[in-house]
Amino acid sequence: MPTPLMTDEECIEAVKLRNQYATTKEAAEASGKGWHWIQRRVKEAERRQLQAKMQKSVEMPTFITEGDEEEPIEEIIDRMSKNFERAKKAQDSRKWFPIAVKEQKPIGVLFVGDPHVDDNGCAWPILRRHAEIAKNTEGMFAVNIGDVANDWGGRLIKKYADQDTSVHTARRLVEWFLLKSGIPWIVWLHGNHQHMGGSMPLHEEMNKRYGTQHVPMLDWEARFILQFPDGAEFRINAAHDFAGNSMWNPIHGAVKAAKFGDNIDVAVCGHKHNWAISQWEQAEQGNSPLMIRVRGYKHLDDYARRIGKYEQEEGQSVLVIFDPNSKTSTGRMTAFVDIEKGADYLTWLRR
Ligand SMILES: [Fe+2]
Ligand SMILES: [Fe+2]
Repeated sequence: MPTPLMTDEECIEAVKLRNQYATTKEAAEASGKGWHWIQRRVKEAERRQLQAKMQKSVEMPTFITEGDEEEPIEEIIDRMSKNFERAKKAQDSRKWFPIAVKEQKPIGVLFVGDPHVDDNGCAWPILRRHAEIAKNTEGMFAVNIGDVANDWGGRLIKKYADQDTSVHTARRLVEWFLLKSGIPWIVWLHGNHQHMGGSMPLHEEMNKRYGTQHVPMLDWEARFILQFPDGAEFRINAAHDFAGNSMWNPIHGAVKAAKFGDNIDVAVCGHKHNWAISQWEQAEQGNSPLMIRVRGYKHLDDYARRIGKYEQEEGQSVLVIFDPNSKTSTGRMTAFVDIEKGADYLTWLRR
């Protein structure tokens, strides 16, 4: 038999009664309403969705409905949109950024291989000599290819126990190398070791020290154009490493970068701690790119020894002389592994 003439008020009364006691039986005994009377009206209240009506009888605090503990979603989307626009603009301005050379004379760019300045095996006698040459040779600039320090992190943090240089001293060495060595940096890359140790923000802060941004610092890769006053341009793609490996060709990645890149003059990388240089005329592109891997300064490498690698003695950095006045395509760029000879050539060319 259908429940006759149950009013909303009765149903709400039954729910309130039921809520006051642990069981329907207790509520029935206390109120004298009867178990079935309460039970039916509670169910009917559910069916008629009277809870909302009941709530109107009290005033709830605003946080119940407004969720004031969280950032409004619209504001999150606004903020993310602004951040995206800022990051995209920053990325776009770093795509093939220009570096204007102020005189028409040839210049040299020393592509400095992985320094690992705090490593016990860092060839400091060679690095120091190269730094001196870069500092004292007119018309010479430098690009840091990344892995400036070991910056151990993750499970390799235990490797600090194997080196004599503390984190503090390592940071001092990096700061000297960046700001005080006199090396005329024009580009500075972060390598995988900076990723490992999370040291990129620290190095970027060092770069801003004394109130000026000293050198464009980029994560892993830079594409930039050396622009001379008469309009001559050299397009340089420098990366800590390029994708692609071959057991037969140590610069396979750089070859790929030159072949598939945007009219590249120099594709240069480091990271693998061996050196090689190639150059040939890409008739289909109408250029003769230099493809380079720099060895870096880490010697006495026990890891390399264990995986059966022989250590190269030279090619820690490679010096490229750019001659904007060259009459031939191949004469525009000349690479030197012997940095002193290259510096002498540059000085002679600029006489
Ligand atoms: Fe590396
Ligand atoms: Fe390295």
